[in-house]
Amino acid sequence: MIAHWQALAAREVPVTPQCAPGSLRTALPSAAPEQPESLGEMLADTWKFVVPGLTHWQHPAFLGYFPTNNSPASVLAEFVTAGLGVQGMMWSTSPAATELEQVVTDWLAQALGLPEAFRHSSGRGGGVIQDSASSAVLVATAAALHRASQGRWRAAGTEGRYRMYCTERAHSSVFKGCRIAGLGEPQLIATLPGTGRMDPDALGARIDSDRKDGFVPALVVATVGTTDTCAVDPVPDIGRRCRQEDVWLHVDAAYAGSAALCPEYRHLHDGIDLADSYAVNAHKWMRTGTPCDVLWTSDSAALTDAMSIAPAYLRNAATDSGRVVDFRDWQVPLGRPMRALKLWYVMRAHGVQGLREAIRHDIGLADRLARLITAEPGFHLEVHELGLVIFRRDTDEDTRDLISRLQTDPTLLCTPATVGGRPAVRAAFGSPYADADTVRYVWERIRTHAQDPEQLSACGV
Ligand SMILES: Cc1ncc(COP(=O)(O)O)c(C=O)c1O
Repeated sequence: MIAHWQALAAREVPVTPQCAPGSLRTALPSAAPEQPESLGEMLADTWKFVVPGLTHWQHPAFLGYFPTNNSPASVLAEFVTAGLGVQGMMWSTSPAATELEQVVTDWLAQALGLPEAFRHSSGRGGGVIQDSASSAVLVATAAALHRASQGRWRAAGTEGRYRMYCTERAHSSVFKGCRIAGLGEPQLIATLPGTGRMDPDALGARIDSDRKDGFVPALVVATVGTTDTCAVDPVPDIGRRCRQEDVWLHVDAAYAGSAALCPEYRHLHDGIDLADSYAVNAHKWMRTGTPCDVLWTSDSAALTDAMSIAPAYLRNAATDSGRVVDFRDWQVPLGRPMRALKLWYVMRAHGVQGLREAIRHDIGLADRLARLITAEPGFHLEVHELGLVIFRRDTDEDTRDLISRLQTDPTLLCTPATVGGRPAVRAAFGSPYADADTVRYVWERIRTHAQDPEQLSACGV
């Protein structure tokens, strides 16, 4: 693995694979071997057949989507976790797995400056590791519906009564969670002009009119760092309204939340004390391998009341004593691996200070790219938030042309975006191997694709 990471860091391999659909499927046998094969053969085949077909998310020139970064400490923890092979669905099925999760989610809550009520030590709430921000919002939706309906949201005659609110900029997982919960589509709240941020007055007006029409407002999902432009909804105003109305507020900070480890970005958490639940993906920007989302709530009873189903085979003296946490009731699946070990290793190996430095480093790289774009005639900087930079060229035609040229270049990955209805190019920093030289390299490629594409065609790109 170390040699692989070194090759990525030196940009000796491309970011994206050059393979046609179906190429791996045709290269591998169509049935499993009858006889055992050696681990050595399998490892060799991994590098021969699988690795060349991968997009390297840890590559320094991977600037697509939001990052999903990693670190040796996280990889080591995953190895140990796999070797121990425990299943921590209940405290009793591996007490230390549950208690380690309570400890590390409390540590992380403290490092992020989350309110006391979100910690297990408060006795009211606490954190739980989910596989994804998508699962986190689904769990929050179940808890919100349970609370709004006193447990009757699936009862006959309640169809279509309960409502969920977000903006059109919310992540697709919010829309998916709403559908899975049986609510159909969420109610879309207008954004403040030119900002992409939820308009709290529009939210208030919508809640009022829904109540008059006999609906029950159950849940608002606010986003801290939208996927498209990293916009931050005004959580304090939204939270006050939710408190007045007794509506559950879930805050999705999947990407941007990690930045609040740094005091200078702690303002991202303004108003979080008014939220009922909050989620951040440690697997995006905290050097922790995927999957590792952390969901916190200040009302863990709402979660467990909504999701606890305890047949005889899942009961025992510890569970019945009410003195332990059974994380099976804080998530959708029953079984769960011990994911806390990787957060524990990562926080100890880097220290909170090291994680802050990593965030500052990535934001510094985005700042460099933003400065280069601003200084270049024919380029326009559209968004520059945390580690995210979005830009376009003078005309939409030129931008589309640049996007399609970048998509044929395997040596870097930017993703397309739309800002203010216009096409744009999106670059998000987060690879543990990116540095100032990466920015110079990426910028030179982008500029040459835009201004002198013949030069790159001559090199075969
Ligand atoms: C703001 C936001 N929320 C939620 C998600 C979904 O994350 P996951 O893949 O963990 O479900 C993303 C993914 O990029 C995101 O940017």
